[in-house]
Amino acid sequence: MGVAIIGTGSYLPYLKLTNFDLENMVDTSDEWIVTRTGIKERRICPKGKGASDLGLEASLMAIKDAGIKKDEIEFIICATITPDMYFPSTACIIQKKLGLENIPSFDFQAACSGFIYGMEIAKGLISGCGYKKGLVVATECMSRLTDYTDRSTCVLLGDGAGAAVVSENEENGIIDSYLSSNGKYENLLFTPGGVSLKPSSFETIEKRENFMKMEGSTLFKIAIYSMSESVNKVLERNKIKKEDISIVIPHQANLRIIAGVAKNLEIPIEKFFINIEKYGNMSAACIPIALDEAVKNGRIKKGDLVITVAFGAGLTWAANLIRWVK
Ligand code: ACO
Repeated sequence: MGVAIIGTGSYLPYLKLTNFDLENMVDTSDEWIVTRTGIKERRICPKGKGASDLGLEASLMAIKDAGIKKDEIEFIICATITPDMYFPSTACIIQKKLGLENIPSFDFQAACSGFIYGMEIAKGLISGCGYKKGLVVATECMSRLTDYTDRSTCVLLGDGAGAAVVSENEENGIIDSYLSSNGKYENLLFTPGGVSLKPSSFETIEKRENFMKMEGSTLFKIAIYSMSESVNKVLERNKIKKEDISIVIPHQANLRIIAGVAKNLEIPIEKFFINIEKYGNMSAACIPIALDEAVKNGRIKKGDLVITVAFGAGLTWAANLIRWVK
């Protein structure tokens, strides 16, 4: 028996924040944002809703797409750096909202690489621990970590959720994953305040330390290198030629990063699925949302070889090699 994705779903909140809206908030322009990042607009989770609400909608769609009953789900794992609250886990809250009980549910985080790490965790639970079907959800409300007075970060981020049902399957679909990280880069992308090291205080709020901080240009170079390396590793390990790849689903951080990876790998940019213009960077949710859109609009078909690849805070970086079995 192998392990494969048998259903996907995604959900984007309806509120849009366009580049023109941002022009009224910080010293920026639509022209700068589009030429430097490729982003035109992003979605924002409404007040009073959180990551579990977006994750629930994506999960329901993935379960429907898989053609299974929700009580066939035997575990829920959730990749998020913007959980509803510190605890309980967003996975447990999604479980409750799905009306499920007494199955393992937990959050994990590898920032933007979260969904790719999640594929490997789900594969391990199914092939090594006897579970048959599980839900991998990646849901992010990045707007909650965004400093809307900082033009260097606020133009990049958005909210959304994606999910996949992973199942034991005669044909193996999750062929291989390359996962890596290097904590020496922790200060390139981080939120300094608000948790155990520096709990929220008047000082952390005043210094805006509860928001994401980023060294954009250093990250830019590491992103291109690490994403290219991740793709090369899974291809080499599995003796797959670049020509045999049907589609690459890259993390949507910056269109110029995606173009740099395509150039490095000598894979035509047309093979990369790009939706960054609509949503910006939604951290772990980018990959499953792009995957779902690529399947639904016919870019991925049964038998296709799919590569997912991402980098994110940690820094983490990772790639999956997937055979589409549906
Ligand atoms: N509007 C107008 N000007 C801006 C803006 C803006 N929104 N942001 C920065 N600038 C200015 C800078 O101040 C700088 O001006 P200066 O030359 O007068 O100092 C100039 O534009 C160039 O700035 P750079 O930082 O060199 O611009 P760059 O071309 O590197 O683009 C960007 C910046 C888009 C952030 C890019 O470096 C990038 O995408 N980096 C990777 C970011 C990333 O992927 N992060 C992960 C994020 S989230 C997560 O993982 C959870």
